[in-house]
Amino acid sequence: MKILVIGGGGREHAIVMKLAESPLVEKLYCAPGNGGIAAYAECFDVKATDIDGVVMLAKRLAVDLVCVAPDDPLVLGMVDALEAEGIKAFGPNKAAAILEGSKVFSKSLMKKYGIPTAKYETFDNPSDAIAYIEQENRFPVVVKADGLALGKGVIIAEDFAAAQDAVRSIMEDKLFGASGNRIVIEEFLTGPEVSVLAFTDGKTMVPMISSMDHKRALDGDKGLNTGGMGTVAPNPYYTADIAQECMDTIFLPTMNAMNAEGRSFKGCLYFGLMLTPDGPKVIEYNCRFGDPETQVVLPLLGSDLAEIFLAVCEERLAELDIRWSQGAAACVIMASGGYPQKYETGKLIAGLDENGQRDGVCIYHAGTKQQDGVYYTAGGRVLGVTAVGSCLRCALDKAYAGVKAISFEGVHVRHDIGQRALAAKR
Ligand code: AMP
Ligand code: GLY
Repeated sequence: MKILVIGGGGREHAIVMKLAESPLVEKLYCAPGNGGIAAYAECFDVKATDIDGVVMLAKRLAVDLVCVAPDDPLVLGMVDALEAEGIKAFGPNKAAAILEGSKVFSKSLMKKYGIPTAKYETFDNPSDAIAYIEQENRFPVVVKADGLALGKGVIIAEDFAAAQDAVRSIMEDKLFGASGNRIVIEEFLTGPEVSVLAFTDGKTMVPMISSMDHKRALDGDKGLNTGGMGTVAPNPYYTADIAQECMDTIFLPTMNAMNAEGRSFKGCLYFGLMLTPDGPKVIEYNCRFGDPETQVVLPLLGSDLAEIFLAVCEERLAELDIRWSQGAAACVIMASGGYPQKYETGKLIAGLDENGQRDGVCIYHAGTKQQDGVYYTAGGRVLGVTAVGSCLRCALDKAYAGVKAISFEGVHVRHDIGQRALAAKR
């Protein structure tokens, strides 16, 4: 098979490297890709959101399958455009991607089908929202922009003044752009967070190994929310009993609800869960692989990813027996100083070989450029240094040893990735 992967971050690098292991794969392409991906896939300078450009590229390369990894092209309907040209595409169509594209949609779906989630109301004007917050008078309260906001459209407000500011900055100052035309005001939930990615073809749901993200920029879960500063898998809070409960009350009901709405979901469905004292609840759905969850989940996949992609496209997922390795994986993000706000790029990265890798770890490039065999920083998140081990501590030790051996000016890492998971273990 010739496969084209759309996107250019650490998640796409992890997908490309897993596909490269498949005996079914003859050639890998990526658009736009990045410095690290270029060592494993031929990259093309076509934007991930350029639907016409991607369709033209896929036709020109005569690929057998396209994996659309990021949220925005999925929400814009890239899969529909590819399928209209007879090209197989892994990912939900536009009608199904709305599960991530609109929080108003996903919350009302959960309400309609009794899928456990935080209590909420939606608003399309700030004064009603503020009146509701005042009347409920329960803090903290969670204020969310309706649409896509690079994972940053959520504000947790500690008191009324902060909640009022949050509503105004999202709806009036357009802090997250047009995604804030409508908002969801939600009850604040507590408990450990778990990310579960699942393969689904709309008929069968196969959850992958669970993982834990670290969204805040600084150690001790302090600082701003980011796209994710590190991940571990499996997530020790996610026991077999909880997994069964999630399957029965969340995963299958979501698949069935989308089918009932005529929005059958095919691809990777991401469940952002919180294990509350009242049981597991959905914090968010994403219509795609998580980043950086994918970087710890796919290295533990013991089956052929290309075969799974094909089976999902052909609605034959039930035929496969998908296996996972024992052991654990850890990914530590090396970011540019200042991320998630202002940061500089173009810094020389020391400690990588000519393929952008390093012995003992797997380096997933998030934002790099390669020039004359040398790698430079080119984004907020730069590298995801990933290791697999027989236990979580072994994986973390290996990943952090890798981090220590790599450097660039202004580098920012969290030093406590996996600590909560280790503490949970016993
Ligand atoms: P989201 O973009 O929806 O994943 O939200 C980002 C982060 O905000 C989540 O990972 C949670 O840590 C937090 N969050 C979102 N919704 C809630 C909620 N209802 N209660 C508590 N924390 C939340
Ligand atoms: N790591 C969270 C996400 O991919 O949205």
